Amino acid sequence: MGSGCNVCLMVDSPLLPFDAGKPSPPRVHDYGLGGKDNFVADREVAAQLQEILPNVGRLVRESREFVARAVDFVARQGVTQFIDVGCGMPADPATHEVALSASPDARVAYVDNDAMVIAHVAALLARPGQVAAVAGDTRRPEEVLGSPELTALIDTGRPFCVILAFVLDFIEPRQAATLMAAFRDAMPAGSYLILSIGSNQDPVLIRDCSVAFGNTLRLNWHSRAQVAGYVADLEVAEPGMITARCWRPPSPPRAEDTPRRADVLAVVARKP
Ligand SMILES: C[S@@+](CC[C@H](N)C(=O)[O-])C[C@H]1O[C@@H](n2cnc3c(N)ncnc32)[C@H](O)[C@@H]1O
Repeated sequence: MGSGCNVCLMVDSPLLPFDAGKPSPPRVHDYGLGGKDNFVADREVAAQLQEILPNVGRLVRESREFVARAVDFVARQGVTQFIDVGCGMPADPATHEVALSASPDARVAYVDNDAMVIAHVAALLARPGQVAAVAGDTRRPEEVLGSPELTALIDTGRPFCVILAFVLDFIEPRQAATLMAAFRDAMPAGSYLILSIGSNQDPVLIRDCSVAFGNTLRLNWHSRAQVAGYVADLEVAEPGMITARCWRPPSPPRAEDTPRRADVLAVVARKP
């Protein structure tokens, strides 16, 4: 990176400060994935979420597995630049590991608005010229894509892939539609979007999950039609918008006895 620094904080930093006593989505998510970068406040929320939705751990793993397959797919289409927005704590496999194993020229900018995420990504993953940690807010796509730290690594004049995995859930649909339109507009032809988002038909579930976070944040329900709108005018890759575990699985997903109360909707789309 131009400055030689791996931690990229904007002057008007969008970062949410570290507070171990308050549950944080990336740390709750980290716990759900079996990580160790979480605190009592996060584990208490995770336990409540588990009670509300017993398969929540499986859903977060299925979303990550989908992202890994999707990144591999996009890299094999010749795209080498990835912007993982709302990247979360480093997890296995990391986006850059998948991208680099498919394409040795791959570059990944990890973007998040959580101070602990950015500190961990910068310390553990960042490598000059290949991987950067960028402080940024998903709700401000122009700022994210225009930040000098990001543009030092990613040439936004060439096709790139934006990943938004389990992050629009924290943004209400109208704002999500606006920011997705901004990302689509900014993407040159040949760019890709990888999107995963919680889906269910039960507004009570969403309310209960927000309550589990002590109402410190609001989770949002996005209808299938709204998610389809987020990739409007893009070419949706086969097999279309589908539950994450059914997106090009290595082997057919096993049948389940009971219908899921919630699932993860996944889609990969290309700008023509
Ligand atoms: C549930 S985690 C998902 C992490 C990762 N994308 C994954 O799928 O494993 C949601 C992430 O989005 C980040 N996030 C939430 N709202 C954000 C915003 N407005 N701007 C940037 N990051 C945001 C959180 O800090 C967290 O790291």
